[in-house]
Amino acid sequence: MVVIPVISSKGGVGKTTVAANLSTVLAERGHHVLAIDLDPQNALRFHLANDPHQCVEGLAEVAAGQLTWTQAMRPGHGGTVVLPFGTVDDEQQIELEQQLARYPGWLGDTLARFALPDDTLVVLDTPPGPTVYMQQALRTANFCVVTVLADAGSFATLPIIERMVDKYCRPRADYGGSAYVVNQVAPSRRLNHDVFEMLRARLQSELLGVLHQDESVSEALASALPVHRYAPLSQAAQDLSVCADRLLARIAAVAANRAAHAQPAADPAWQMESR
Ligand SMILES: Nc1ncnc2c1ncn2[C@@H]1O[C@H](COP(=O)(O)OP(=O)(O)O)[C@@H](O)[C@H]1O
Ligand SMILES: [Mg+2]
Repeated sequence: MVVIPVISSKGGVGKTTVAANLSTVLAERGHHVLAIDLDPQNALRFHLANDPHQCVEGLAEVAAGQLTWTQAMRPGHGGTVVLPFGTVDDEQQIELEQQLARYPGWLGDTLARFALPDDTLVVLDTPPGPTVYMQQALRTANFCVVTVLADAGSFATLPIIERMVDKYCRPRADYGGSAYVVNQVAPSRRLNHDVFEMLRARLQSELLGVLHQDESVSEALASALPVHRYAPLSQAAQDLSVCADRLLARIAAVAANRAAHAQPAADPAWQMESR
């Protein structure tokens, strides 16, 4: 199981779009994908669920002990499985957040107990900035996909995310690294282009890829389809495929590196004989 939260310091930067469309592409590449909505907006369902209106209940009801995980899961595009956030009023949300704050490892422990197939990719959609949901996600993350815009605000808030990742992810041996997606890239806009170059210089190998500003993205959402189904030849569909393939390559590289280091040392007696 590989846990991949999609995070950002700011709202409206495309986290849910990236989480949903990466999930669909990864599932269509043959992986089991479980996409979990950790955002009380409960919006992932509109991007990913086959029937968003069947996604009224979800993680909130699971955490409250009213539903099992299996009961809350819904089928999503491309063979994904979606766990919606569910529906809470203000008081229920405060109670849930207090519960999550008291048990910061709840999500990780629950996922570990849930016997998911070994090759499952668990994609987590999160609300912006430091929240109990992001803490839960980062504590169990193996890779973080960080979504940023090519604007001054995103650039200025990079340290917020870096501090969170440094605190909750990097000290763990099972953390594979951060992968930044720069969204709404529009090379014809001078400032956008300049900030993108600054981001590229700052992020270096942690830059996973870009998602160009493309009206196919919002049209696909309005049509309740993944981008690569709605407009397979669009720039955005190509960008999302590139990001998904690079993410898979990074996951495979980290797994291969671990396997190489986990090999038992050669038997010295055998080495002597073979000389
Ligand atoms: N690359 C893009 N091109 C055009 N519109 C986009 C792009 N990425 C996201 N959007 C639109 O921006 C809005 C916010 O995206 P969303 O994924 O909901 O952000 P977040 O989850 O970070 O709040 C949505 O209406 C979405 O369709
Ligand atoms: Mg969102």
